[in-house]
Amino acid sequence: MQIIHTASALRQALKSQTNIAFVPTMGNLHAGHIHLVEIAKQHGQCVVVSIFVNPLQFGANEDLATYPRTLEADCDKLKTAGATIVFAPTVEEMYPDFDGNTLNQTMTITAPPIANELCGASRPGHFSGVATIVMKLFNMVMPQVAIFGQKDFQQLFIIKQLIRQFNLPIKAIGVDTVREANGLAMSSRNGYLSVEQHHQASQLNQSLQNIVTQIQNNTQQNHIINFHQLENEAIASLKTQGWIVDYVSIKSALTLSDASSTDSHLVVLAAAKLGNTRLIDNIEFLRALH
Ligand code: PAJ
Repeated sequence: MQIIHTASALRQALKSQTNIAFVPTMGNLHAGHIHLVEIAKQHGQCVVVSIFVNPLQFGANEDLATYPRTLEADCDKLKTAGATIVFAPTVEEMYPDFDGNTLNQTMTITAPPIANELCGASRPGHFSGVATIVMKLFNMVMPQVAIFGQKDFQQLFIIKQLIRQFNLPIKAIGVDTVREANGLAMSSRNGYLSVEQHHQASQLNQSLQNIVTQIQNNTQQNHIINFHQLENEAIASLKTQGWIVDYVSIKSALTLSDASSTDSHLVVLAAAKLGNTRLIDNIEFLRALH
């Protein structure tokens, strides 16, 4: 496994590769990330994993400074997992006009309107920052296939639009969320949780499971479903349990617009904070309409 820090060295290493599967990450790798590498191996001969904590996608009051940076341990895990190349660039490498203080990235990808909803509502500019860095990484790696986690459902949705609208010859593959034993979606941010919070954090997934069960039961019995009521009940219950809820939302999985009675392919998404730690989760599911 090669560890590469510059775009030119990466280009050199990939010169003769025509079968590249790419896994972009911000590092501090856990079993969810490693699962993406496993899937990548099924789709490409050469598996490139990038590790870069992207300043452009963090808001002013977010955790850019404290985001865990664990390159050495990450590389050990990637070597064991069978990655071919780790690309771990500096901020200067990714942002050529960075002056040590300001990124000076004056040209960015404008994210689609959906980027202002759900996570985008409380994280303005976040998805533009994600789309911009993913575009830069795609330009450097030039993969045939790129692998993303469904855990970041809205991110994957926007990246698929990026690929389509910019005519990129890249196939995006979404991979199921890897969870801890209590159902909590694995995340680099889980490390911020206390032991007690870690235990409690399973409530987020449980409240989504509960919504799915109610939708499935009501669909089977042909009952009219009030999606907003289900969302509000889940929000209220999480609040009672001590969460600060950003959103709980039931959407069409195909368009991410509000779920309607005729949608059979749905996704229920949530973001909420336990203390200072913001967690997200979602469940995508099908229902059989009569
Ligand atoms: P990061 O949060 O490090 O996640 C990297 C990839 O791992 C993403 O595709 C994410 O959806 C996936 N992932 C995270 N937790 C997962 C889990 N429990 N199960 C399965 N997959 C999981 O997402 C980013 O980094 C950044 O926004 C990035 C795309 C790299 C752009 O900076």
